[in-house]
Amino acid sequence: LQEMVAYKMSLRHGTCIKIVGDIPRDAKQYMINLGKDEFNIGLHFNPRFNHENIIKKIVCNSKSDGMWGKELREQDFPFVPGTTAEISITFEANGFKVRLPDGFEFTFPNRLKLQNLNYLEIGRDILVRSVTFK
Ligand code: GAL
Repeated sequence: LQEMVAYKMSLRHGTCIKIVGDIPRDAKQYMINLGKDEFNIGLHFNPRFNHENIIKKIVCNSKSDGMWGKELREQDFPFVPGTTAEISITFEANGFKVRLPDGFEFTFPNRLKLQNLNYLEIGRDILVRSVTFK
């Protein structure tokens, strides 16, 4: 659908990134990656509607020097194809605090011990409407 990548950012601990996007009716998956660069990702946030045999689950992981870490899955799945979703991610020293559209929150650990975020990627089945930083 659409891919957006931002490099050379310098987001500090405490920064909240709010992403609003339209999820297409035939969505299979989308992802939000945050980190240092494409090979070093502190948070890979990957809601899967139907992808790689996983149905309606959020897959999260990190990537270090191009290698995926241990995958974590969340049970909550408040995403509906054909609607707009709002996700907030607060970057903290200990982890990425993710707030889902239904208000459910979870924290994915800052495994790479990132001090700042230089890289943001949003892709696959999502049409990004806005990205705001606070
Ligand atoms: C893989 C998938 C990647 C990424 C990774 C996360 O199976 O191909 O795109 O989502 O899982 O652990």
